[in-house]
Amino acid sequence: MTKNDRANFGSKMGVILASAGSAVGLGNVWRFPYETGNYGGSAFIIIYLGCVILLGLPIMVGEFVIGRRSRTNAAGAFRVLAPGTPWRWVGRMGILASFLILCYYSVVAGWTLEFVAEALTNSFVGKTPADFVASFDEFSTNSWRPLIWLVVFLLLTHFIIVQGVEKGIEKSSKFMMPMLFILIVVLAGCSMTLPGAEKGIEFLLKPDWSKVTGRVFLGAMGQAFFSLSLGLGCLCTYASYFSKETNLTRTAFSVGIIDTFVAVLAGFIIFPAAFSVGIKPDAGPGLIFITLPNVFQQAFSDAPILAYLFSVLFYILLALAALTSTISMHEVVTAYLHEEFKLTRKKAAWMVTSACMVLGTLCSLSLGVLKGATLFGLTFFDLFDFVTAKLMLPFGGLFISIFIGWYLDKKITRQEITNEGSLKVPTYKLIVFILKYVAPIAISLIFIHELGLFK
Ligand code: PFF
Repeated sequence: MTKNDRANFGSKMGVILASAGSAVGLGNVWRFPYETGNYGGSAFIIIYLGCVILLGLPIMVGEFVIGRRSRTNAAGAFRVLAPGTPWRWVGRMGILASFLILCYYSVVAGWTLEFVAEALTNSFVGKTPADFVASFDEFSTNSWRPLIWLVVFLLLTHFIIVQGVEKGIEKSSKFMMPMLFILIVVLAGCSMTLPGAEKGIEFLLKPDWSKVTGRVFLGAMGQAFFSLSLGLGCLCTYASYFSKETNLTRTAFSVGIIDTFVAVLAGFIIFPAAFSVGIKPDAGPGLIFITLPNVFQQAFSDAPILAYLFSVLFYILLALAALTSTISMHEVVTAYLHEEFKLTRKKAAWMVTSACMVLGTLCSLSLGVLKGATLFGLTFFDLFDFVTAKLMLPFGGLFISIFIGWYLDKKITRQEITNEGSLKVPTYKLIVFILKYVAPIAISLIFIHELGLFK
């Protein structure tokens, strides 16, 4: 494809939904609650919200500027805008990060399919909270079942990617995002009325600042980047499909608001229910998978048909939300291989899918038979998560803000943000100021403090 015949998203709504489809996923419903649980609740959420507003939104606008201006994949974008400089390594690091996240994210995405199957076969009925914990442990440490779902999930992602941008990505986002949103609101309402839910609500609303350390800041910053799909050129790649009329700032704000709402609401589903049934908030990656089935069983104990319908619908929508995110990660790597190495899209996609199957298998087995194989004290699954979310993405964000704030010609930034002067963007100066000073300083300070770079 040449620059001019690249595909575009078909409509304004399509742009927002596809970007929100990338942002909203397991990061909101699975990772946000378990990180909130790990880091002690409300104070983490407040710092997270600070990171979204202060770092996430301006950096998202920055990624949009880079992507739409260059109209190419994440690595190519830096080559086009900063030819002959090492900036292209920022794009390459992002592509590697996308690939690594896809590997372990697809494992959890596969778990959602297992839960769709369990919901469909009505197998939550009659189980106690302890049964849910035991059966999740048995499933996630099993050597075969999670692998089968991993392969199925990667193949689903693969076939949508091969269909291309508009048909595949845009259409699938359009109907599932609003449905997921409505269901999450309903479930949060149900969860908050369970007996003993108040403790969970308190956990979410009453900050305990004594628990806040540098690690909490690094965790919150990493979660903000992860959840908003930032720092790895994903939204930059999507922005390369935006049209000239897309309002970059408004799109970034809409995506940020939708993403944050879903994450916080997911917290209001999980924690009231977890406290209600006595599951510890720091139960780790299995948290939502052991807590949610209880919500369906208990909130609808008088109406089993509703319990059935809601659980089936919820897991299908969760799987679809994960799918629109895996598509976006896959697209970053596929677009790179396709455009930079002149491979056909199909061949590029197959390379990504098969490599992910191999590394994803390693991540999946590291929760069971390979639990003992650790590096720096972390299993493969945890290592992939740590290296990407807590190191590569914030580093990517740091470099993107320096690129826009200090390297890129201001005229280009202004032209892109104001659509060649046709839009009034009152936050323009603030965004540029944040990208120039606030984001680089804040991200560096968190790194220096937490990683002990100067100790
Ligand atoms: N933002 C996605 C989520 O919250 O589930 C995860 C993700 C998608 C991360 C795409 C990075 C990415 F490039």
